[in-house]
Parts: sequence; C-alpha cells; structure tokens
Amino acid sequence: MSDPTANTVLEMSGVRKAFGSNVVLSGVDLTVGRGECVVLIGASGSGKSTLLRCANLLETVDDGVITFEGEDITDPRVDGDRVRSRMGLVFQAYNLFPHLSVLGNVTLALRKVQGVAPAEAESRGLAMLDRVGLAEKARARPDDLSGGQQQRVAIARALVANPQLMLLDEVTSALDPELVGEVLDLLSDLKGEGVTMVLNTHEMGFARDVADTVCFLHDGVVHETGTPAQVIDAPQQERTRAFLSRIRA
Ligand SMILES: Nc1ncnc2c1ncn2[C@@H]1O[C@H](COP(=O)(O)OP(=O)(O)O)[C@@H](O)[C@H]1O
Ligand SMILES: [Mg+2]
Repeated sequence: MSDPTANTVLEMSGVRKAFGSNVVLSGVDLTVGRGECVVLIGASGSGKSTLLRCANLLETVDDGVITFEGEDITDPRVDGDRVRSRMGLVFQAYNLFPHLSVLGNVTLALRKVQGVAPAEAESRGLAMLDRVGLAEKARARPDDLSGGQQQRVAIARALVANPQLMLLDEVTSALDPELVGEVLDLLSDLKGEGVTMVLNTHEMGFARDVADTVCFLHDGVVHETGTPAQVIDAPQQERTRAFLSRIRA
C-alpha cells in the first residue's frame, strides 16, 4: 500500500499560538501537498506571518501538531536548525549582506553552515543565479541591484540549498510597483518547476494565477479554503467577501 503521507510536505493540525493574551492562531489546519502552491490571504494582523514562522519553528506553537516530510517537528526534541535547513524562507525585507557580492550572499549558508566546498558552492550559486535570471550580477554588490533584483537574489539564496518547501512572506510588498512583476514572474516559474510553496500576498491577481489552494485567515483559523475560483471569485463566507471587497477598494 502506498504511504498516504508521501505526497504531503507540510501538515498543520490544530495549531495554536498566542503572544500573551493575544491569541493569534487558535486552531489552524493546513495541508500542503508536494508541488502545491498554497496562498494565505487575510487582513493585516490576521496571523499570516506568524503561521509561516510557526511552520519553520521560528516560533514555538502552544498547541497542535506540525508535520514536515512525515516528521512531527513540534516535538520539543527536534532540532530547529536542521528543520530550517530543509525549508527556504524569504521575507519582505531581503536582508542581503551589503559587504558580500551577490554570489557570496547566495553561497554563504552553503559554505558556512552546510560545509559545502567553495568550488561546489560557487557552481551551485551560479546555477541558481542563472535560474533567477541574474547570472551576470554574480560579482555585483547588492546595493548596485534594484529592489526586485535583490529580492530575486534572496529567493536564489533560499533555493540554493534545495529546500523541500519554500515559505514566502509578502515578498513583493516592500517593492516599488514597477518591480513587483519580475518577482511574481519568478515565483510563477518556480511553481511551474514543481517547487512546493506557501506564500502570503495582497496581490489577488497573482494569487488567482499561481495558487492551487487559497486559505483565508480570520479569527485565528483558516476561515475559508479552496481553489482560487472558489475563494477569490466566489467566496461563500461573509468575512471572506468583506475582506476581498476591502482589498479591491
Ligand atoms: N513576536 C511577537 N510578539 C508579540 N506579538 C506578535 C509577535 N509577532 C506577531 N505578533 C502579533 O500577532 C498578530 C499577528 O501578526 P502577524 O502574524 O504579523 O500578522 P499578518 O502577517 O497577517 O499581518 C498581531 O497582532 C501582531 O501584533
Ligand atoms: Mg505579515
């Protein structure tokens, strides 16, 4: 019999997270299949970033279970660094090191954390920069790149370790509007290549194009979930409709 969990990369079940008396996640259930793109939507403060940070153990959950590649990663004995080395996390602020070249940024963790030999790290880094369309910028400094190019470098940096899962937290919201498209195009390409992703965005057009599953976060839970056609175009829940009409206004 085939293992039913083999095609599930991440599963959250009853995840609860509070900061003091502020209960941000009160019982989140979420399943991410291999090659799937799950898009989180929801009002500012609804817990999208917290959910992503719980998924890669930057936050400790108060209750519930998170399974990653078949392993219960909420078990306190689990080594968070080992888990994070198999996930790529990209933030709104790309946080590149200004004193390192683009290539140096992309290969830093390979060299310093994973102990990959310099020549191999360099060839993997160059291949990844080529994949994000920035091979010719390998020797440049981050400051010489546009914001969109810097964010593509940050995505390359996350991808170079061959993560099983990419977590992307509003990766276009710090960008000038004319630079958003190149980053969204890159994410669409990655989706086409079968990269498993969970991301949150306010770009509903993009969410509709790229998502397999949309999850609307409200009141600490996944309030409505389904395909983009279901959740974005024909929401069943009043709260989802209200959120979408606010964001379109
Ligand atoms: N480290 C933290 N300490 C205290 N409160 C936090 C922390 N991180 C997030 N919060 C609170 O959790 C709630 C959800 O925040 P967040 O996950 O950033 O929402 P979103 O990404 O959907 O805008 C907010 O009320 C925020 O103030
Ligand atoms: Mg956020």
